[in-house]
Amino acid sequence: MAAVPKILAIGKATQDVFLRSDEFDPHTEGKILYTHLPLGVKMEVSDVTFATGGNASNVAVTFARQGLHSEYMWTLGHDPASETVLRDLDDEGVATARVTRKSHYQAGYSTILIATNGERTILNHRGVSTDTKGTDLDFNAIAEADWVYPTSLANGGIELLRLIVDAAEKANTKVMLNPAGPELADPAKLKALLESVEVLCMNKEEMQQIVEGETLEELVRHALHYVPVAIVSDGPNGVVASDGKTIVRAGMYEDVKVIDRTGAGDAFASGFLSQWAQDKSLKDSIIFASANSTSVVTKLGAKGGILQAGTKLHAMPIHEQPV
Ligand SMILES: Nc1ncnc2c1ncn2[C@@H]1O[C@H](COP(=O)(O)OP(=O)(O)OP(=O)(O)O)[C@@H](O)[C@H]1O
Ligand SMILES: [Mg+2]
Repeated sequence: MAAVPKILAIGKATQDVFLRSDEFDPHTEGKILYTHLPLGVKMEVSDVTFATGGNASNVAVTFARQGLHSEYMWTLGHDPASETVLRDLDDEGVATARVTRKSHYQAGYSTILIATNGERTILNHRGVSTDTKGTDLDFNAIAEADWVYPTSLANGGIELLRLIVDAAEKANTKVMLNPAGPELADPAKLKALLESVEVLCMNKEEMQQIVEGETLEELVRHALHYVPVAIVSDGPNGVVASDGKTIVRAGMYEDVKVIDRTGAGDAFASGFLSQWAQDKSLKDSIIFASANSTSVVTKLGAKGGILQAGTKLHAMPIHEQPV
């Protein structure tokens, strides 16, 4: 039997606290929807859900639940949010020995107010973490992994992404990229490092910043000029993926009631890699990615719905043909 793949996720983590209240009642003023937060008043919160998020910590949990060697690396502090993130990852069996903790670092923190109509207001503190040089990150970890999954590198941005990708290339470690905000800020720089990327997964609007194309299929075909495996998703409208040999078009895995979209993209991309890294077919990897992300949107928070190993999947609209 082939060895169990080791995947290293690098990037920021957050504590997310969801508050629901009958008093978060929306009303419109002009075009903007508001919820009343009267000053000097104590408002009743009917339920509190504690969760953790941050793209890299979310994907690390998919890898762990799917039985892979999953490691998470970042800079965290001694604040309650950092403690919570680490405990969550420990409980999930994600290796965290390479997380550097120093008192000047802080995990991200969000309070999410859920209004009675399901809309949300997020109060976000982005945390304090490493810089563009990746100070306090142990780059040796990259050489020890089969795959590295960098995402949401905060102030490290595209410069840190370049350092990680270069280290991976030198060590023959494969890179999966599902870039988040800081890495998307400069599409030209992102494009320049794609030659070191094995799997690129983006949503439609993001991919349109990198290559030309109107349809998912056009975008995938153009992305294949840069990377061996390209995947473009479009929410409930489906996904197209290709490894240069076959092209897979998939629809919706299941028409579920969406409770919270947070983590959909992470569950999809990590769901894909959790299978692809184990040499599953393109089609089977896309089916699992779709099932994983569909499950995540039915729960509050980015991690609650991540599928456990052995979950039975059902058929979905999907078809595959030669490129
Ligand atoms: N409303 C939905 N119902 C069912 N599945 C969904 C829904 N929205 C998203 N998904 C699943 O999540 C996957 C990824 O969603 P999407 O294409 O919106 O990615 P994204 O824009 O990168 O998400 P994110 O904002 O989390 O980064 C989809 O391919 C689909 O499988
Ligand atoms: Mg995304």
